Amino acid sequence: MTPAQAQEKVMTADAPMKDMKEIVALCKRRGFIFPASDIYGGINGFWDYGPLGVELKNNLRDLWWKWMVTCPPIGPDGQPVEIVGVDSAIIQNPKAWEASGHVGGFSDPMVDCRETKLRYRADHLIAYLPSTFDPKDDSNLIPVFMQGTPDDEIEKKFKKIGFHFAISQCETVPFVELEKYGYVEDYGLLLLRKDSSAKHKILKERTVGPDTKTVGTLTEPKQFNLMFHTFIGATGGDENKAYLRPETAQGIFLNFKNVLDSTRVRVPFGIAQIGKAFRTEVNPRNFIFRSREFEQMEMEWFCHPDEAKLWRDFWFAERQKFWRAIGLRSDNLRMRDHDQDELSHYAKAGLGTADIEYRFPFTAPDFGELEGIAHRCDFDLTQHQKHSGVKLEYMDPVTQEKFMPHVIEPAAGLTRGVLAMITEAYTPDPSRPSGVYLDLHPALAPKKAAILPLTAKDQHPVIATKLYMELRGEFAVDLDIKQNIGKRYARQDEIGTPYCFTIDDQTVADQTVTVRERNTMKQERIAIANVAEYLRKNIRAV
Ligand code: GAP
Repeated sequence: MTPAQAQEKVMTADAPMKDMKEIVALCKRRGFIFPASDIYGGINGFWDYGPLGVELKNNLRDLWWKWMVTCPPIGPDGQPVEIVGVDSAIIQNPKAWEASGHVGGFSDPMVDCRETKLRYRADHLIAYLPSTFDPKDDSNLIPVFMQGTPDDEIEKKFKKIGFHFAISQCETVPFVELEKYGYVEDYGLLLLRKDSSAKHKILKERTVGPDTKTVGTLTEPKQFNLMFHTFIGATGGDENKAYLRPETAQGIFLNFKNVLDSTRVRVPFGIAQIGKAFRTEVNPRNFIFRSREFEQMEMEWFCHPDEAKLWRDFWFAERQKFWRAIGLRSDNLRMRDHDQDELSHYAKAGLGTADIEYRFPFTAPDFGELEGIAHRCDFDLTQHQKHSGVKLEYMDPVTQEKFMPHVIEPAAGLTRGVLAMITEAYTPDPSRPSGVYLDLHPALAPKKAAILPLTAKDQHPVIATKLYMELRGEFAVDLDIKQNIGKRYARQDEIGTPYCFTIDDQTVADQTVTVRERNTMKQERIAIANVAEYLRKNIRAV
């Protein structure tokens, strides 16, 4: 079975759970991802990519660019779609962020713990309401946990704070909805009407936050703007305030007119961008899933308003194809429409947003967002036209119709995509010395092959070095001479190298090498002269 075939195998429902702690440890041990400022104890929400991590990230970035910009798909009308790229500045005129709605509206509700000074996304907190809650009994508490906290941790905490109910005896209520509940004499806990503020206060006063044993330390949710700010020049002051972009998309809208004026694109067409984005996330967590500095791969598709649905459906299907083609198994992917109250400020009208979600180990059995496909309507162009005073309407050269294009936006996380790739590829296998291998698609693997002389003496290293020198101009290959062969295979398995070529005594005699395939560990002999062709055939592009 080739790695490509192996990728197509369906993960069975009873596949072992993947342990995030082990995945994070492998990423550090093998040089994929390190905590930023590691020698100073790290910095919450920031990560560095090591020698192999940057290769994997660049491979994913390059595949996305190829699918979207260099070789974009054929559209629903049978014509090739047209997409051009830009690479805009991270810092733009602050007026752009006022126009886009990010200064006023890009915020999350947050809750502080007065005791621990920890800060939580209010919409990520779950309150455990005992079904027989009695506000007159001071010992009745309402423990609050971060979404996704495992049951055994919840039970431990229940014991620690002297909470005498079992999980099954509690109703789980989103923290932000706690105010809808109250206690009514003779009836117990009830969903209340709006005029019940006094009673809801009782509930809030009895909460115990996720990281404390003390009652009543959580504050009311407050809106918290997610944009990083900085100052341009040496003097500081509000007049010099600027923002680090929280999404790459705005750099595209700001260049809509420049692209139209300088190229031959015509609506419908797309502008794509890959780059860093920054958000002061309240709770950066789950490794690189939610960080404060991350990378996005975004494309804004400009089309006639009447064609928005056609293109939304098209891009929704195309983007799923992409993630599947590079190795995410279908049963780990899910499509979900945003509820009305989840929609971003720009997607409230129109066809809404649908997410492509992936079953990450820390969300399982549930799913987490990998990419959103939003119908941004004409929100951004209209806002920038209004605030800049520059006309951004489009005139169709054939029909002479003047209109503001609508936008369909497939917005994916590059760094979040790397995490999906690593967690999908991570395959525990107690039968091999490494105990695990990375089942990465060959197109994504940081190293395509390793050349391993069986021993470090005689002709083995000489022939291996010669083969390495022949291959290195075309493929990312490793030459590894030291240590016993088992340890060297183990290292390659852990970094996801699909093929290992071993040079032994028989190579000296008949110019053949063994090729070992990563997933099956099967070995076959091929002529050393055919190694490059073998790789060309098996490391197929996607
Ligand atoms: N322009 C639209 C936009 O930015 P988004 O859903 O906020 O939409 C798009 O972000 C993608 O960027 C998400 O699907 C996710 O993959 C990634 N992303 C967003 N916030 C992130 C964070 N704090 N850390 C890592 N990736 C993030």
